[in-house]
Amino acid sequence: MLNYHHSSRCYAALLCAILAVACSRPSSIEDKVESYLSQMTLEEKIGIIHAQSKFSSAGVPRLGIPELWTDDGPHGVRPETLWDAWASAKWTNDSATAYPSLTCLAASWDRELAALYGRSVGEEARYRGKDVLLGPGVNIARTPLCGRNFEYMGEDPYLAGELCVPYIKGVQSNGVAACIKHYCVNNHEVNRHTVNVNVSDRALHEIYLPAFRKAVLEGGVWSMMGAYNLYKGEHMCHNDVTVNKILKGDWGFDGALISDWGGTHDTDEAVRNGLDLEFGTRTNGIDLNVSNAYDNYYLAEAYYQGIKSGKYSEDELDDKCRRVLRLMLRTSMNPDGGLGSLNSPEHWADARKIGSEGIVLLKNEGAVLPLKEAPRKVLVLGENAIKPMAVGGSSSSLKAQHETSILDGLKAALPSTEIVYERAYQGDPVIKGYNYSFYDITDPRSDEQLLEDALAAASDADYVIFVGGLNKAKFQDCEGQDRLEYHLPYNQDAIIGAIAAVRPDLIYVNVSGSPVAMPFADEVSAIVQAWYLGSETGNALADVLTGKVNPSGKLPFSFPREYADCPIRTEAQYPGIKGEDGISQCDYSEGIYVGYRWYESQNIKPLFAFGYGLSYTSFSYGEARASSSKMGRSLTVSVPVTNTGDRAGAEVVQLYVSALNSSVDRPVKELKGFEKVWLEPGQTKTVKFALDEESVSYYDEGLGRWVAEKGEYEALVASSSDDVRAKVRFTKN
Ligand code: BGC
Repeated sequence: MLNYHHSSRCYAALLCAILAVACSRPSSIEDKVESYLSQMTLEEKIGIIHAQSKFSSAGVPRLGIPELWTDDGPHGVRPETLWDAWASAKWTNDSATAYPSLTCLAASWDRELAALYGRSVGEEARYRGKDVLLGPGVNIARTPLCGRNFEYMGEDPYLAGELCVPYIKGVQSNGVAACIKHYCVNNHEVNRHTVNVNVSDRALHEIYLPAFRKAVLEGGVWSMMGAYNLYKGEHMCHNDVTVNKILKGDWGFDGALISDWGGTHDTDEAVRNGLDLEFGTRTNGIDLNVSNAYDNYYLAEAYYQGIKSGKYSEDELDDKCRRVLRLMLRTSMNPDGGLGSLNSPEHWADARKIGSEGIVLLKNEGAVLPLKEAPRKVLVLGENAIKPMAVGGSSSSLKAQHETSILDGLKAALPSTEIVYERAYQGDPVIKGYNYSFYDITDPRSDEQLLEDALAAASDADYVIFVGGLNKAKFQDCEGQDRLEYHLPYNQDAIIGAIAAVRPDLIYVNVSGSPVAMPFADEVSAIVQAWYLGSETGNALADVLTGKVNPSGKLPFSFPREYADCPIRTEAQYPGIKGEDGISQCDYSEGIYVGYRWYESQNIKPLFAFGYGLSYTSFSYGEARASSSKMGRSLTVSVPVTNTGDRAGAEVVQLYVSALNSSVDRPVKELKGFEKVWLEPGQTKTVKFALDEESVSYYDEGLGRWVAEKGEYEALVASSSDDVRAKVRFTKN
């Protein structure tokens, strides 16, 4: 009895204590959001929804809420800029690991690798004290000329969506928010602030939104960046349809919508159409660098006065603050994010692995690759073999703590081989990173001399490897403008042709983040798509060239033979026609026919198709079988895949769905599943795909929703979009 009283008294005391703590210290993030919000003054609320510097926004010092730090993204953590300007802060401790470009990650078709990428770059962001990493980018590669294709994940919404989800989760496991960008229909750079995109609801929902939708619904992304362009006459950072109705309404996004830097244009729209956090606005104050510049932001003084005068209620403001506080509690105020790590050997290994697994072998005639062991002499040609590429390209430019050039990577991989280098051409020899670094690799020789010297050196080498392509200078793979031509710059077509004429066994390594024309494709023996690979560029490429890594990447976009083959046929489609109001109207009149959907509908054979890529081994596919679940709600398609060669390797098995008797226009087929399967020589594994209603649905504009029509379908199991290996029909009842 006594014992009972004693323990019950203790129990009651404990309960009181717990309750007291619970009352004074709210436990869940939502409770904390409400608690902080209830203590904030109007000025403090306004203070947290716009920038206080180029990359940070203010906290609430009185309540101990720290400031929020953002940074680019997506290929590594950008070096520090000045408080009020884009110029370098000239820090010496802000280098980072440069990871491969997102096109390379997309080319790996590997969800686990995307998770590794996110975790690894998120650790770097955490260590550098960044709360929001501005990436990944998932804008669809609509035109091969878009200057930012390299920062995105290709031409297919399913592929981009599947890979951005693990990237986001990986980043966020560090208590760092991913900021998926640029929402949405931001598919080229020309006139990017003044282009109004006219796109059908169907194309919007089927092509341009799915990756963002997946990022929200499956990735649980904590922030999103509005794009620069307009849609239905409103800028994307404060767009009623895409933000209010779709993002926050239909998808129930609970994170913060952050403006692109300078993407906010109007207080009224920003207040009412869901912008939560304003960055990068160029006010006169900022140009003059006066101290109150940030008060001139659209969501600053003008908003404050609007509330004071009764023009706006505090409801929208509270919603914005809740979202920003939630973002802070998930990141800057999250004690569970770990400490992060920076420039570690583990991160370099991650970058190397991602790089080598995203490289795509496009041609390998006579099995010229992999290089035989310890060749006597290798001639390496081309500017891109020596050019630092982590810098450049604008906002994704990085200060890599180290970057192994392709030439150095090959030297390290082939220590007993004589490796000779010749430039062959000179492209853009002066490389400016984001105002923090400057390389000059100018060669004094004339163009004629460079080619002559390359040809002379080509005669007695065991192998000749030409490393060319694009770079990250303006009008190449670079933000702010698009490429001016689909062909390679700096006369490379002719130079590569001339070298191939004397060395038909030429190995061409293409460095680019976009498709390019390759009129010399038939004249060279091997073609390797090497993207931008970051810190470990040379090592990752050498791993593939020497066969240490068996290539398994597949293209995330088609390479049309000529630009004229692609769906963009008129100026109205691209870059749009400027009206008297200064706004360019850009008609996405090709509708859903983007990338392979277009080429297949027009019977145009691209040079290299979406999903294409070779291996040093070969794979055979058995018969595909389909079995439906008991309730008939889902279907499993399975196919045995065998490694028929003599090397271990991986095959990306793709599943496309074809609607056979739809009442509406449908693409010939659409990607609805993929699995990367690792196989030892002779080994067989059965690859399984789960299909559901979404896999057969199209977006019905009349109904304003997705519809899974009854009817006949075909599941196509393929090694690439133009190489279907097995088919199985099924009925949707
Ligand atoms: C780019 C964004 C970037 C931001 C901050 C903008 O110009 O469009 O992608 O995150 O700058 O650097």
